Amino acid sequence: TAATPAMITQATERQRCKRQRQDRQRDATMTSLLPMPEKRIFSGIQPTGNLHLGNYLGAIRNWVTLQDDFESIYCVVDLHAITVAQDPQQLRQSTREVAASLIAAGISPERSVLFNQSSVPQHSQLAWVFNCIARLGWLNRMTQFKEKAGKNRENATVGLYSYPTLMAADILAYRATHVPVGEDQKQHLELTRDIAQAFNQTYDVEFFPLPEPQIFGSATRVMSLRDGNSKMSKSDASDNSRINMTDGADLIAQKIRKAKTDPDALPSESAGLEGRAEAQNLVGIFAALADSDVDSVLADFGGRGFGEFKPALAELAVAKLAPMGDRMRELLANPGDIDAALADGALRAEEIAAPIIDQVNDIVGFLGAGAKSG
Ligand code: TRP
Repeated sequence: TAATPAMITQATERQRCKRQRQDRQRDATMTSLLPMPEKRIFSGIQPTGNLHLGNYLGAIRNWVTLQDDFESIYCVVDLHAITVAQDPQQLRQSTREVAASLIAAGISPERSVLFNQSSVPQHSQLAWVFNCIARLGWLNRMTQFKEKAGKNRENATVGLYSYPTLMAADILAYRATHVPVGEDQKQHLELTRDIAQAFNQTYDVEFFPLPEPQIFGSATRVMSLRDGNSKMSKSDASDNSRINMTDGADLIAQKIRKAKTDPDALPSESAGLEGRAEAQNLVGIFAALADSDVDSVLADFGGRGFGEFKPALAELAVAKLAPMGDRMRELLANPGDIDAALADGALRAEEIAAPIIDQVNDIVGFLGAGAKSG
């Protein structure tokens, strides 16, 4: 049967679309402003006050190590913070405190890029595009939203719901390839990969990498010093349950002396720690602080009681942590310097993100500055 005029119009239209797509792809390649980074690390941390040993051993310490070998971009995520209610003055303070902890722990604001999220507008811009890529069905599966929203889901902010699309934007605004995160953020990383892939597919471009999570070793799940079965937490009523990053030498030693234990001697192998949550926690902390492992620690301390182990742990903890606390208090005495370091980091971050977002805008079809395609 002969083609009807409508069919011919359709075919012509399809060809036109295909040509356009090819043009767009060619233009995108031609105007490819930045080569795909081979390995670029991005990670974010919430601005909550009172960072403690759990945050240090669980995350920050790894960030410090990574910056030696890779281009690293570290972000204090104040945009994410306001997905739940925040006092503005407190938010400013927490943002500075977290930045100070990172610097005190050894993140170099010169070698790495360190900044607060709201200072780089490209995060919000890309988050909107991703809100139009991600599907309700994908977000409905996010367990962190379910936990944080609790029973009264109707009253949760839209921001809390779309938290993961902003997180995807954080990472992909830099086309980061690797993201060091804790186990609890794995699902958000998977979503980030889904969004990257869906964007690439929708616009028929190979633009975003699929970033890899770098899940930290299980070694460093730090538990409360008062209860080996609950996580060390900033919200625990007892300050003796945690070692804060601001604690000085005396306080650190005192908290370890008071830490809950059991009456038995330490075993010489890790299997012997089974069912002894407090012993397991203290040995784990020792191993992490000594850059060692549980078995080596037990090889040294097996058969000895806490009367001997605790002073050794206190000495190690003070040596490793007290200088950090001192440095932090020093930094916080000059908040203007922290603000200046963050502002400088934001400029450097924007230098990386701006050309990437220009290109995203172009790919999506937004007219305006930076448009390269027809
Ligand atoms: N959601 C992360 C957390 O709560 C923080 C975060 C925000 C993040 N953006 C990120 C982590 C991007 C890694 C990459 O721990």
